[in-house]
Amino acid sequence: MSSNQINEKNNDSDKGPGLGGPGLGFSTLSVHAGEHRQKVCNSITDPVVLASTFTFENTQSIIDFIENDEDRGEYGRYGVPGEQVVERKLAALENADEGVLFSSGMAALVGLFNAKLSSGDEIIFFDECYHRTREYCKNYLSRFGIVTREVKTGDYLAMESEINTKTKLLISESPTNPHLSILDLERFAGIGKKHQIETMIDATLATPFNVRPLNFGVDYVVHSATKYFGGHNDLLAGIVLGCSEKLAEVRALRGVMGAVNSPHNCYLLERGLKTFEIRMQRHNENGQRVAEFLENHPRVSRVLYPGLPSHRHYEIARETMRGFGGLVTFEVADADWKATAKVVDRAKLARIAPSLGGVETLIEQPLVMSYWGYQPEERKAFGISDNMIRLACGIENSSDIIEDLQQALAVKD
Ligand SMILES: Cc1ncc(COP(=O)(O)O)c(C=O)c1O
Repeated sequence: MSSNQINEKNNDSDKGPGLGGPGLGFSTLSVHAGEHRQKVCNSITDPVVLASTFTFENTQSIIDFIENDEDRGEYGRYGVPGEQVVERKLAALENADEGVLFSSGMAALVGLFNAKLSSGDEIIFFDECYHRTREYCKNYLSRFGIVTREVKTGDYLAMESEINTKTKLLISESPTNPHLSILDLERFAGIGKKHQIETMIDATLATPFNVRPLNFGVDYVVHSATKYFGGHNDLLAGIVLGCSEKLAEVRALRGVMGAVNSPHNCYLLERGLKTFEIRMQRHNENGQRVAEFLENHPRVSRVLYPGLPSHRHYEIARETMRGFGGLVTFEVADADWKATAKVVDRAKLARIAPSLGGVETLIEQPLVMSYWGYQPEERKAFGISDNMIRLACGIENSSDIIEDLQQALAVKD
């Protein structure tokens, strides 16, 4: 097998809708894709090239570089060697032509929106989403004359009816954060195609291990690589993936914006990705077991997890996804926000923190962590209840996570 075979666009041999096709296995891609077979100093790992600038032999070599679009370093803001390796690796995992790496998930979203939208344009998004994405669209894009329309998640007819001649982008997460709603990606992409409007999915909570939205016809996939890709709660990064032609403007803007990663950050991300598949298998397994435990617990009134038959999108999730990730959202029965906070505070194994997708299990109360200071009616509109807890299962043994929850829920406050 040549290194080219590994670096080319690949499908996963481990099939599932939107995942299938012949090709190298997912873990093989995670370990090898995007890397050169023989590296500097014959090292097996990629070197961390600590350079913000790259030298030219003479004036003619600068001219050759510009005119022939040579693949070499120039200045760090336009990309460093480690960044290209990670971009190629993630493109292989996502079955994309290309990926543009940013310094965080939010930087990736802002980069895509700013590259694609102009004053007078409109965007429509499904309303369940990471609160900072909503904040950027509503509070910042609006200052540049871009109108954001919001419709209920999963209401495809409402989304279609909001489309007009100014609509440029349809946006959603799948699964959504923190409600874990799942989109019918084919239908969503189909609306875009019918009206010749581009579509974007933030698939941070799924990762390409569980679903690959581009295979359903979506134009752009965005990830917070801070989460499952990095996987160790030790870095921030983000990526936009899609076809090269459409990403050219995004890459050009990144070079101006400067929201790039340090060489060391790129290395951490590349290293984290080596174990991506085995971590995802454990996240999926833990999420499912913990969700099933919580659903049968008398002190839990509601569990939101796409792998449970009680979830409103169970069927579409089962048809289109391999697994459902480590995030589980649940509500404590007969608890106000203070009683709910006590459940969080009693956790001994799970650490109280925002974020998800790392090896450590994290627990948080969305009302406190992300929606503190919001009015009750605003929280209600966003579907954030006072007794809601978001648990991001890590890769510990599920029996230990469950035991921790068992003791945290044992006391009735
Ligand atoms: C679904 C989703 N998208 C985007 C982001 C933003 O990513 P980052 O924190 O890397 O900027 C987050 C962060 O929590 C998220 O949950």
